[in-house]
Amino acid sequence: MTTSTSTTPRLDGAGPDTVSALLRQIADVGRDRARGGYSRPVYGDAELTLREWFVAAAEARGLDVETDGNGIIWAWWSAPGQERENAVATGSHLDSVPGGGPFDGPLGVASALVAVDELRRRGVTPARPIVIAVFPEEEGSRFGVATLGSRLLTGAITPERALALKDAEGDTLADVLARSAHGAQGTHGTHGTFGRDDTRLRQLGLFVELHVEQGLGLQPLGEPIAVGASILGHGRWLLRLTGQGNHAGTTLMQGRQDPVVAASRIVVSIRDLARATDGARATVGRVEATPGGTNVIASKVEVSLDVRHPDDAVTAALVQRIATAAELIAAEEGCAVTLTEQSLSPTVAFDAGLRDRLLEALPGVPVLDTGAGHDAGILASDVPTAMIFVRNPTGISHSPEELIEDSDAERGAAALADALQHLAGPSAPATVEG
Ligand code: HGY
Ligand code: MN
Ligand code: MN
Repeated sequence: MTTSTSTTPRLDGAGPDTVSALLRQIADVGRDRARGGYSRPVYGDAELTLREWFVAAAEARGLDVETDGNGIIWAWWSAPGQERENAVATGSHLDSVPGGGPFDGPLGVASALVAVDELRRRGVTPARPIVIAVFPEEEGSRFGVATLGSRLLTGAITPERALALKDAEGDTLADVLARSAHGAQGTHGTHGTFGRDDTRLRQLGLFVELHVEQGLGLQPLGEPIAVGASILGHGRWLLRLTGQGNHAGTTLMQGRQDPVVAASRIVVSIRDLARATDGARATVGRVEATPGGTNVIASKVEVSLDVRHPDDAVTAALVQRIATAAELIAAEEGCAVTLTEQSLSPTVAFDAGLRDRLLEALPGVPVLDTGAGHDAGILASDVPTAMIFVRNPTGISHSPEELIEDSDAERGAAALADALQHLAGPSAPATVEG
């Protein structure tokens, strides 16, 4: 065997049994030199590499891995002959926002692998199967609809609508899956249902997702771990403005139909309308002018819109006010505008019984709401779900600056192991050798 001089990280996931070491293995995958941080869009090279890494790490642990018809990877730890039913599921996602941090998603996946290692070290034989899930397109950063994998699984989006979603290159999900060996036609096992999958859902008894905290709830409390209470209702819309593309030098300022000007005024009005709505959050994270030349008056502009509020009726009313304002502003600028809903997720309160069982396993930990969306929120329509959050000392997320301390990452995995042990029972033998 020759000695490799390559700097490519080892991606077999076999050796490390700490969260930090597992995350170090993937630290070079999908780095975004332009934005900073990581860009790992679903079914792109980086996310596919991470999926392979996860499969290798799970198989190295003797887990039985399958990719289902919706592109969700499932890694099973079950005793020989044990039925795959009433499973204790955990896991998260490996895709990222553009220029995201290292922990949003991968922390929950790596922690699940380490929790399985830890339970084995404790000599635990789970009475219920434990399964680690990796969900595709949690962020919706490629096809626009967040939590796409869990929406497909539960039927919250129809297969037809999902397949027709387009990415920035104009490729549909159908195109991408047809090209990818890792999508709906997974390479690791069954080719299951595309869309709502009752057989799969019946296998799941509950789902606990561990995630980096994406706010500053834990830091002021001096606590490393929290249990989740609820997910803030949220949705995404797309504003499309059209004007008259023209020459920057020969077109007088009067009478221009410039959609960039209309979009700019609309962005400010979105901020103002959200500020006037108690508890609301509204964000424009992407403004894209076409054709996008310095000396070109744009012909169209796309403006993304993310709106969140605990009361779904308030969200709907705020979006309606934004639509009215956008139409008025567009007309004043000689432009036209349309507003289309991409996804909507009502406020979700996690299962109270499951949350209480988590608190039995993790006595004294605080209980926090979150403003971020998660697959655990979508799965809640069919399966009791809960979350564990790990302290983020700055509260910053969806940014290269997202942070957790190594020691907190390990505490998170230990907390997940405690939770899985409690939920999957029975407890460890009285004496554990070694
Ligand atoms: O957008 C969200 O809240 C989540 O991080 N996907
Ligand atoms: Mn996430
Ligand atoms: Mn995220």
